[in-house]
Amino acid sequence: MDWGMSNRLSRIIRPETGRTVMLAVDHGYFLGPTSGLEEPAKTIAPLVGYADCLMLTRGILRACVDPSVNVPIMLRVSGGRSILGELSDEGTTVSIRDAMRMNVSGVAMSIFVGAELERKSLLGLADLINEAEEFGIPVLAVTAVGKEMNRDARYLSLACRIAAELGAHIVKTYYCDEFEKVVKSCPVPVVIAGGKKIPEREAIDLSYNAITRGAAGVDMGRNIFQSDHPVAMIKTVREIVHKDLTPDKAWDLFNTLANEKKAKV
Ligand code: 5RP
Repeated sequence: MDWGMSNRLSRIIRPETGRTVMLAVDHGYFLGPTSGLEEPAKTIAPLVGYADCLMLTRGILRACVDPSVNVPIMLRVSGGRSILGELSDEGTTVSIRDAMRMNVSGVAMSIFVGAELERKSLLGLADLINEAEEFGIPVLAVTAVGKEMNRDARYLSLACRIAAELGAHIVKTYYCDEFEKVVKSCPVPVVIAGGKKIPEREAIDLSYNAITRGAAGVDMGRNIFQSDHPVAMIKTVREIVHKDLTPDKAWDLFNTLANEKKAKV
């Protein structure tokens, strides 16, 4: 692997632990101003200091993130459809040239295994990887997006493995029963999305279970920024990801941090 590629990967996944806490705030690319991200700059500012990497789109990066902030960027470069349309009909939205101009550490694209436009999305990923490889830019493949997908180990293993076979450097997927099977059969690091907002204690358990079953970290959005205590939540998730904090201790930590904040208000 060339130096530039290795350097960028080491900015996304921390070499000290081999893990990452990515903060996903790219949801607007198909959901519009989703809850918690109505004003992205306000959501991002208090959280960015606790993220190993920030996943977002070009428009939000330019408009809502101070360029002097020292955070690696995972740029979503796929899109083109909204929640009202056929999601699997995405295409590439940002050129590698522009991604490089923004000094990104990686680019991300969704794939839609099992969907009507599966072939288009997989070949789109392959094209992106071919181009990104030329400049040493890692590609994150986002799998299992879509309402109708059965997110079990069999399906997620299929989707993750195909992404890795095409050359993705990191794969993002959902947690499931027998998650260790998904990780074992995917030869590149797997990070999990948090999915829809669930109670904080459940999101803590989810993060811990994913990490102890082999995930290289989280690429989490709604379970952080839709929490009533987003900073407490991201700090707690960091402790789980990088220090294997157990769920009971993590829950105590979350409550302590959330109550400290309340006491200050
Ligand atoms: C959407 C995405 C989001 O970044 C992803 O879903 C992560 O966010 P969340 O934890 O809210 O699920 O890639 O396709």
